[in-house]
Amino acid sequence: MKICKLNDDLAPQALKIYRNCLNQSNFSENSLKLTNSYPHNNIYLAQIGQSVCGLIDYSILSDQAFVNNIATIAQYRNSGVASKLMESMLTKCKNLKIKSISLEVRISNQAAINLYKKFGFSKISKRKRIYSDPVEDGWVMTLEMKYGQ
Ligand SMILES: CC(C)(COP(=O)(O)OP(=O)(O)OC[C@H]1O[C@@H](n2cnc3c(N)ncnc32)[C@H](O)[C@@H]1OP(=O)(O)O)[C@@H](O)C(=O)NCCC(=O)NCCS
Repeated sequence: MKICKLNDDLAPQALKIYRNCLNQSNFSENSLKLTNSYPHNNIYLAQIGQSVCGLIDYSILSDQAFVNNIATIAQYRNSGVASKLMESMLTKCKNLKIKSISLEVRISNQAAINLYKKFGFSKISKRKRIYSDPVEDGWVMTLEMKYGQ
């Protein structure tokens, strides 16, 4: 498995993940390319051979990072794909001396909550009814990064 930055050739496969795994059915290839062109956005893909099996999408603003999306295609789940994507983000954040990484997750999404806990994220607060279709509360989870002197 290798982790690579989203490029135009891989955009159609990435778009399928946004649509099929992240319920972003109205996301277009053009909007994906536009999102990817902003310097604060980072979209990385996990590839096995020629197949894209997962993606992570995060933003870095000053010394804070925000995970916008992470997903693994169903048939590749539970084989460490999302963990590899999280590790690649954490390496980049450490290199940039990012102070904290935050995200929001549906309170029912136990697989994602476990993934984030595995990487040291803690539930910080609950946001009421922030998700739609279906309406649901979300946890805000944060990882405070620690650096030696
Ligand atoms: C959440 C998701 C990204 C996990 O991807 P994955 O590639 O299967 O994850 P990994 O194999 O790296 O697993 C890492 C950890 O996640 C947790 N996890 C993954 N799948 C799980 C499941 N079905 N139930 C409970 N915990 C699960 C476990 O803690 C696991 O660690 P372990 O293997 O040491 O037990 C995947 O289920 C997914 O794409 N879901 C749909 C999209 C989504 O909900 N994204 C998050 C939006 S906030």
